[in-house]
Amino acid sequence: MASLFTSILLTLCLFIIPTLSSDPDPLQDYCVGDLRASPSINGFPCKSLVSASDFFFSGLGGPLNTSNPNGVAISPANVLTFPGLNTLGLSMNNVEFAPGGVNPPHSHPRASEAGVVIEGSVFVGFLTTNNTLFSKVINAGEMFVVPRGLVHFQWNAGEGKARLITAFNSQLPGAVVLPSTLFGSVPEIPNAVLTKTFRTDDATVNNLKSKFAV
Ligand SMILES: *[C@@H]1O[C@H](CO)[C@@H](O)[C@H](O)[C@H]1NC(C)=O
Ligand SMILES: *[C@@H]1O[C@H](CO)[C@@H](O)[C@H](O)[C@H]1NC(C)=O
Repeated sequence: MASLFTSILLTLCLFIIPTLSSDPDPLQDYCVGDLRASPSINGFPCKSLVSASDFFFSGLGGPLNTSNPNGVAISPANVLTFPGLNTLGLSMNNVEFAPGGVNPPHSHPRASEAGVVIEGSVFVGFLTTNNTLFSKVINAGEMFVVPRGLVHFQWNAGEGKARLITAFNSQLPGAVVLPSTLFGSVPEIPNAVLTKTFRTDDATVNNLKSKFAV
């Protein structure tokens, strides 16, 4: 009896688990997010009056200003900039790199990522949970994927500018950007934690914190 119950439970789990692998499915044609309202349990409430302009977005184009320490700039089309994406489980980014620019190691807790290089040559890599690095230099027209939640980065490996378009299976994938998460949090992570973690001293940790302080 117990084993029958266990096998029924396991069978149910097999059907249920795949439905949890991305944002929930929509329950209506659309639900343009009303950003003035507080997010409800998952996403934004629907705007009552919609028009064609709610379903188009012109903010993905460049060129962006990449004059910053990482030499990278991102324009996101997610539910916060393009509320028409609310409940659709999708978003995109335009990512532009100065020569040598890097999109530093980061992860997206709520989405897998697919990307295509539009311009230039980009060294793209992600790390598995056992610290295996999968990486390659890819060129215009070539695509990459990053499984959900895994740490990844992109570095402009060419001589000129580079540009990517990325897509996510979440309306708001979120980004945990490791350098600023660890060294630029508010309030700060205590030095006792970071010196022990990185097997280093206060001076090194303070130096890193000074670069990522907000
Ligand atoms: C680009 O950003 C830098 C740093 O914020 C700023 O000094 C510069 O004026 C900007 N350039 C343009 C063309 O907006
Ligand atoms: C990590 O996982 C990969 C793929 O399963 C395997 O080939 C590799 O040997 C593993 N590496 C370590 C360090 O365990």
